[in-house]
Amino acid sequence: MVIAHIEEAKVSYILLEWTEFLVRWLHVIAGIAWIGSSFYFIALDLSLIKRKDIPKNAHGEAWQVHGGGFYQIVKYLVAPEKLPSQLTWFKWEAYGTWISGFLLLILVYYISADLYMIEIEKFDISNWEAISLSLIGIILGWVLYNFICKKTVNQNNTILSIFILLVFTLFSWLYFEVFSHRGAYMQIGSMLGTIMVANVLMIIIPGQKKVVKSLLENKTPDAIHGITAKQRSLHNNYLTLPVIFIMISNHYPSIYATDYSWIIISLIIIVGALIRHFFNIKHSGKKPPYLLWIPILIIILFSVYLSDKGKPNLTENNESSNLIIEQIPNELILASEEIIVSKCSMCHAKEPLWENMERSPKLVNLENISDLIKNIEGVYSQAVASYAMPPGNVTFLENSERKTLYDLYHLVNKL
Ligand code: HEC
Repeated sequence: MVIAHIEEAKVSYILLEWTEFLVRWLHVIAGIAWIGSSFYFIALDLSLIKRKDIPKNAHGEAWQVHGGGFYQIVKYLVAPEKLPSQLTWFKWEAYGTWISGFLLLILVYYISADLYMIEIEKFDISNWEAISLSLIGIILGWVLYNFICKKTVNQNNTILSIFILLVFTLFSWLYFEVFSHRGAYMQIGSMLGTIMVANVLMIIIPGQKKVVKSLLENKTPDAIHGITAKQRSLHNNYLTLPVIFIMISNHYPSIYATDYSWIIISLIIIVGALIRHFFNIKHSGKKPPYLLWIPILIIILFSVYLSDKGKPNLTENNESSNLIIEQIPNELILASEEIIVSKCSMCHAKEPLWENMERSPKLVNLENISDLIKNIEGVYSQAVASYAMPPGNVTFLENSERKTLYDLYHLVNKL
């Protein structure tokens, strides 16, 4: 969606959209692989049983059936008597997710920082300043988190988690003061995601490597590696759902772009952790705490309420769009208005005529020229540079009409 900067739009627009999409594809797939294996190992760990006949030093055993075969898995807490020559490490799922995620951050947010990160009314900064602030936050978030964890590694994990939550609520508030809503939201997502990957890269894997090295040298490994790794995987386990929530919510403006979205982030961290907790207990074979769904539901409902409370106040008129309208030739205004009224506004209206539609989809109204100018970027990506709108071309939008919308887009971007 890097449209705004491109003068001769079409070709480079499509190329950029493809690049962005391919990176996003990779990001989602790497994320699925990472979170999938993480869910798998957590559930596996919780299902281990200590039978009498398992090998010496073994911690537990699980039997599983999948894909037409049976698996007998034995877990050693420290290590077996003799390490096999071949070991499968699980790390590229995490690294791949971070690398593609960071590329996506550059492609979508950093390249168009003026569109997606900066809000001049809050803080008038240049693109480079916004990018620097974002990078500083990503690094600082990890350094601070790592410091707190190292200081408290042997202490109560619940207090630590609450403390970390408070630190991140502060970060959210801070970034919502500095960046646009969308920029701030993704910033917090990136900071949390980075912590999860850094836990793997900087703590869990190096610790495990040291353990393997000691074992190969016939020394007893330092127990601290195991303790730290356990603490960090616990955090990753509980952060998984909230981070995914943040990453996909940037398609849902009423979640990320309200006055209270920074509080919603913290509430969702709690909700995600509670849901994970429910499944952790369920997978360990104990009776699942069904009552946990009551606070989960209450917090979600409260978040919905906050979204509504934090939405913009619609009493002011947009004068700048009137200024633009004065500079557009009358024929183009009439032609464009005719198109949206006949091809879009049965859905995109305050009171849509489309059956069972309560309000305009995605709150995009297209009833007159000022609506159209307000949404011109979206109209361009949905109906000019692609066939996404009208859905299934239900209203038979002609290519010549798309061209008229393109002319308008082009003109508005020049003004
Ligand atoms: C039959 C109903 C219908 C018609 C007609 C229609 N739209 Fe849409 N439009 C939708 C729906 C439904 C969505 C939400 C899609 C989604 O959830 O991703 C949408 C979303 C959009 C969005 C927002 C996309 C986003 O994700 O931000 C834009 C912009 C848009 N339409 C433009 C248009 C234009 C321009 C026309 C006319 C040329 C048009 N639409 C005609 C139903 C319609």
